[in-house]
Amino acid sequence: MDTTLSAGLDDWRLETRLEDGKRYHKLPSGTECWQSVELLGRGTYGEVWKEECLSGTSSSPSLVRAVKHISKQFNFDKASKREIEALATFSRINMVKVSVVSTPSSLSVGFNADLLQYQQHFVQILGWFEDDRHWYIAMEFVEHGNLQEYIQKGSFKNPEAEPEAASVTAQIAQALSYMHTNGLVHRDLKPLNILVSNPGPAWHVKVADFGITKNLTNTLSRTRQVGTSGYMAPEVWGSQYTSAIDIWALGAIAFCMRTLSPPFIDPTTLGGYRTDRNLFPFGELSSSTQQCVAFIMGAMAAVAEERMTIAEVLAHPWLTRQASNTGTAHP
Ligand SMILES: Nc1ncnc2c1ncn2[C@@H]1O[C@H](COP(=O)(O)OP(=O)(O)O)[C@@H](O)[C@H]1O
Ligand SMILES: [Mg+2]
Repeated sequence: MDTTLSAGLDDWRLETRLEDGKRYHKLPSGTECWQSVELLGRGTYGEVWKEECLSGTSSSPSLVRAVKHISKQFNFDKASKREIEALATFSRINMVKVSVVSTPSSLSVGFNADLLQYQQHFVQILGWFEDDRHWYIAMEFVEHGNLQEYIQKGSFKNPEAEPEAASVTAQIAQALSYMHTNGLVHRDLKPLNILVSNPGPAWHVKVADFGITKNLTNTLSRTRQVGTSGYMAPEVWGSQYTSAIDIWALGAIAFCMRTLSPPFIDPTTLGGYRTDRNLFPFGELSSSTQQCVAFIMGAMAAVAEERMTIAEVLAHPWLTRQASNTGTAHP
């Protein structure tokens, strides 16, 4: 059964006055003024804008943020709240870290290090506000756009770029590991929802867009069809699925990095793959290593129960040999 996420929303509300297209936030330290400067992305239900801080406590020429505008006309209040709650859950890790500093006995050092390792792969929320027509979610600005742009440029296609594809896959897997261990399923993993904070060769990526993230309290959930064609697991077309749909999408992203597009665009071929494994377009991976092919096949097993778990993904040799590249902590 689905439940709502538990993280509190109020902690993240920014007291806001909107005037002349600017937003004024009343903070304990004074008032901050922000203005939209560039459209970063446009989705089905809203837009994401880059904003600059014009004045106030955080004012500095380099102070920027990204703000997602979600129209209230679609009556998506529940989904919007869930997105804020999911973002807050992943940003809250910061707060745990702070509390550990003051009360070192409450958590072990190892646990703290783990949390930090996961947190660096989630886009961080800065707060939210609303007006009559929109919800606004303020986030850290992730400088280098989304992964799709790099895939299209062929950044991961050459044989020598395969380790970079593995490094990006490992980072997304770390974020998924945190989500899945905490009973959360992203449900719309795809290159457009992966943001690049540092481009290659030392890639650093963050998972974003938690608009349809769900709590799965049990192994199975019955719900409407979710996700984006090309990254949707075969079982999503049925009525039951688990967090294994995110593992499928991770495999599809890895495939896409090596070949420029996901393996199954046509749902009919995808349906056929459930019974005929030969429908998988192996030929397109001819310039990839055996380990890479084995990883993708393990993540994209047609039957969810045969797919790798997130723990198996993280332990897979294609990813573990990247450990030295991904071990560096980024802000
Ligand atoms: N925090 C951010 N920093 C920089 N760019 C962002 C940020 N969030 C989103 N974007 C850009 O906006 C696009 C859409 O954002 P997303 O959250 O996926 O919205 P939607 O729900 O409309 O898909 C992303 O693909 C990315 O290019
Ligand atoms: Mg998106």
